[in-house]
Amino acid sequence: MLEQPFTFPCGLTIGNRIAKASMTERLAEPDGTPGIKLLRLYQAFAKGGAGLILSGNVAVDPDHLEGYGNMTSEHLPGSAFAELARHAQVGSARMLLQLNHPGRQAMRDVDSAPVAPSAVPLQAKRFFAMPREMTDGEIVSLIARFAEAAEGAERAGFAGVEIHAAHGYLLSQFLSPNINRRTDRWGGDIAGRARLLHQVICAVRARVGKGFAVGIKLNAGDFVSGGLALEDVAAVAKTVSKEQIDFIELSGGTFERPASFGYGLSPSTAKREGYFIEMARIVRDSTAVPMIVTGGFRTRDGMESALQSGACDLVGLARPLALAPDLPARLLDGSVEYGSVADLRLPRGPAASLAELSWYREQLLAISKGGSPRVRGNGSVALIRTLLRDRWLKFKHVRYRNRRPAAARPLPGVASRQP
Ligand SMILES: Cc1cc2nc3c(=O)[nH]c(=O)nc-3n(C[C@H](O)[C@H](O)[C@H](O)COP(=O)(O)O)c2cc1C
Repeated sequence: MLEQPFTFPCGLTIGNRIAKASMTERLAEPDGTPGIKLLRLYQAFAKGGAGLILSGNVAVDPDHLEGYGNMTSEHLPGSAFAELARHAQVGSARMLLQLNHPGRQAMRDVDSAPVAPSAVPLQAKRFFAMPREMTDGEIVSLIARFAEAAEGAERAGFAGVEIHAAHGYLLSQFLSPNINRRTDRWGGDIAGRARLLHQVICAVRARVGKGFAVGIKLNAGDFVSGGLALEDVAAVAKTVSKEQIDFIELSGGTFERPASFGYGLSPSTAKREGYFIEMARIVRDSTAVPMIVTGGFRTRDGMESALQSGACDLVGLARPLALAPDLPARLLDGSVEYGSVADLRLPRGPAASLAELSWYREQLLAISKGGSPRVRGNGSVALIRTLLRDRWLKFKHVRYRNRRPAAARPLPGVASRQP
């Protein structure tokens, strides 16, 4: 079944049932456009055989990045993005940009003035600044930003966009009752908390063509007390239709509870191939929208049985593809039976998932430079190297941002001098 093509409601057809899931690359140029590193990386994924390729999160607001080195939508469509779309869509592979706003969940060093549905901080206050509650006007402009970014993605030649409403970022914060304490139209019951996501979906759909794919990534749960519950997720799924969206990708967790990596789940769920597959069955009962499930898939048998059981239409793979971008092709031609994850020495406690993330980011960097990923090593060392590299990315980003307003400032008597 893995090798069967799939047609989304918008008419987009892909060659097989494997999606390369989003992995933040942090490899963009200082202006937020893709350069040679991202072209090489996505060429490797395109050749690797996945039917659907989801980019790492692309910031819809350049003043609110998830991390330095994020692609940002401000220069969409633009020739750099058009090049990326061309490089990543060979054969029947199709690429979607994942659109995101991090809200309160960006490190203090990246966003010192974050916004959120309500002024509720993350527990790790040393690393994350206190967010400010968004105004009604800011929420309305945010909707427009998503729509504009989607239109730009279409004009650049991408096959669609995925709206990131999972993993504790802004749209997911709006869905979560412990973070969204608003009493206006954007808060309250699940209908109110999902209003922003619905309006983003409607605004995006209205701005793009009929054949352009629009998907959402949702948490099956936040796995913290008072967080988003599965019944709420099913309620959200019930209110979206195939006319509006082409798929729901189900994942789970937040920075505080990184369930998407299998941390903080019950031992039986974490061990299961496809952590969220049982939850997907429940969500699926509420909707006819196609479903992608991501997280924990490793073996061809596991992927096949998830598809055959009807729990999902596509399986999403992230970490195994950072170690072997050609894994989809090899699973499909039968030359391998499973994908590997890295054999890592990890620190104890909350730093473990950060160290793991750092390791995989390093492997994306290696591929982007034409090198080979490494499957074994020390996660703590990768974390330190990544923190140092992020300082360099920050330096380049800040230098670019400081220069840009100067260039944009009109000189006296030269009113039209704009970049
Ligand atoms: C290096 C790295 C970066 C990630 N960045 C993103 C991201 O930008 N957006 C997103 O939705 N998920 C992101 N994820 C989560 C993956 O999409 C996926 O949900 C998770 O890794 C579980 O899938 P896996 O078990 O196949 O790795 C990232 C994962 C990794 C390893």
